[in-house]
Amino acid sequence: MPWKELPLRIAPSLLSCDFARLAEEVADVEAGGADWHHVDVMDGHFVPNLTIGPPVVKRIHAVAKQPLDVHLMITDPARYAEAFARAGAHVLTFHVEVCADDAAVRSVARAFRDVGVPMVGIALNPDTPVERVADVLDALDLVLVMSVFPGFGGQRFMPEVLPKVVWLREHGYAGHVEMDGGLNLETLPRCAAAGADVLVAGSAIYGVADRARRIRELRAAGAAARAAAAQA
Ligand code: DX5
Ligand code: ZN
Repeated sequence: MPWKELPLRIAPSLLSCDFARLAEEVADVEAGGADWHHVDVMDGHFVPNLTIGPPVVKRIHAVAKQPLDVHLMITDPARYAEAFARAGAHVLTFHVEVCADDAAVRSVARAFRDVGVPMVGIALNPDTPVERVADVLDALDLVLVMSVFPGFGGQRFMPEVLPKVVWLREHGYAGHVEMDGGLNLETLPRCAAAGADVLVAGSAIYGVADRARRIRELRAAGAAARAAAAQA
């Protein structure tokens, strides 16, 4: 399927939800039209923050109707592949920066598939060139282009990463391109226009009272920007 036919997906990042009310937060954004739940896993080593692990992901999966998009910001993703697969990760994404070379990328992707992960993704930090994944794209269902340095929600969007998304589409990558970090009503349309189809937003969605309205606004703004880019 050509990438322009991929529907825009809005993925609220649970990092900005009220963790004391996880099930209600999940249900609220689902009622509001969320396509995927973005779940940020941090190990305090690859990034200077700690969040949640497989037991919590498993409980999210138990209450969620929409797929879990699990973003692993951890140093040793292969070691935990089975735990996250069992916990119900639908998309499981690891960072290219933890891999020494292309063979290492392929080995992690294979480890994920071997335990039954439906979709395998790779993430790039803002200062990692997109060419780093040029020769492994055939092994990946999704490329996550980070638009902030990972570790925390609520940071400012870095527009200088947008050319990576354009590069992926110009080089014929037809899988999912996801963007994460600082997406809001002003920046998300730029991501959609560049060619991203999975759009993560934490504070822009969980930070407002009316999540349904915000998800609607984000989707409409993204669709309009994509259509305008297609005309240009
Ligand atoms: C950052 C995380 C993001 C974060 C996005 O390390 O990977 O998913 O939750 O939050 P916002 O949308 O607030 O930048
Ligand atoms: Zn994330």
